[in-house]
Amino acid sequence: MHALILAGGLSHERDVSIRSGRRVMEALRTTVDKVTMVDVDTELIPTLRHGDIDVVWPLVHGATGEDGSLQALLELVGVPFVGTASPSARVAWNKAVSKAVMARSGISTPDHVTLPQSLFREVGAEQVLDTVVARFGLPVVVKPVRGGSALGVSIVHDRGDLARAMVHCFAYGDTALVEKHIPGTEVAMSVLGTGDDARVLPAVETVTDGAYDYDARYNPGRVEYFAPARLTESQAAEAATTALAVHRSMDLRDLSRIDLILDETGVAQVIDINITPGMTETSLFPQAAEAAGLDLGRVYREVVDTAAA
Ligand code: DAL
Repeated sequence: MHALILAGGLSHERDVSIRSGRRVMEALRTTVDKVTMVDVDTELIPTLRHGDIDVVWPLVHGATGEDGSLQALLELVGVPFVGTASPSARVAWNKAVSKAVMARSGISTPDHVTLPQSLFREVGAEQVLDTVVARFGLPVVVKPVRGGSALGVSIVHDRGDLARAMVHCFAYGDTALVEKHIPGTEVAMSVLGTGDDARVLPAVETVTDGAYDYDARYNPGRVEYFAPARLTESQAAEAATTALAVHRSMDLRDLSRIDLILDETGVAQVIDINITPGMTETSLFPQAAEAAGLDLGRVYREVVDTAAA
């Protein structure tokens, strides 16, 4: 078995991807004969065609890694790969589109509006922001409609900070999504498998002094993790049922991580879907697998075996 890991790529999450790739490679080397890791560059297609590869694991985060492009290329070349196929990847990557799909399946997500940058020029920034505050109140969460690792995300408590949050968000893309902020317990639900065979791993809870932002995510010591999360039985069941419903209804394959907030009424509100969850030393998917008592080398071997079959 030769597993080829793709990591790096050109996105804001390039460094995270390389860290994820290295960790998965180390773990897989305990269970797979040959594991190699390459960057996504112009040599990729010749490598895929002539590399004697049984399975590819695309661990490229962010745009081009998670928006379906890389998956479409792998489908075109005809090499088996780990993870969600291109059509579902496209849907999951766009938070506005995925919210619409989840709503049709009866899955709760925070009330939201999408704001293209052009609207601010056409209507005027202050008028747009006043409308947002009138609709949702404060705090609100501002995030790029396409993005990951909390890049460009702000939780805004004061009206005076909203314009700066929008500017920050537009640095990562031309459309923002503004959501009602949901108080509650934030957990990450890792899912392994596909369709009826999918199973959910223990919830991982993140607690931070400030925001669970990029720096907090990737620098040890900034976040307190509880794996498993401190949930009641009914909260744990709600989180697990919701994560599986998202994974299945959106046709996600092999593995995913569904981030959600258990709100004050006990409902799980989905805030993010990751088809290529981070696998770094501070990431949540590996913590969930370890909380389940699983060996990462074996889990990742199961993932590549299923994808290669
Ligand atoms: N997008 C990053 C890698 C994550 O959410 O884990």
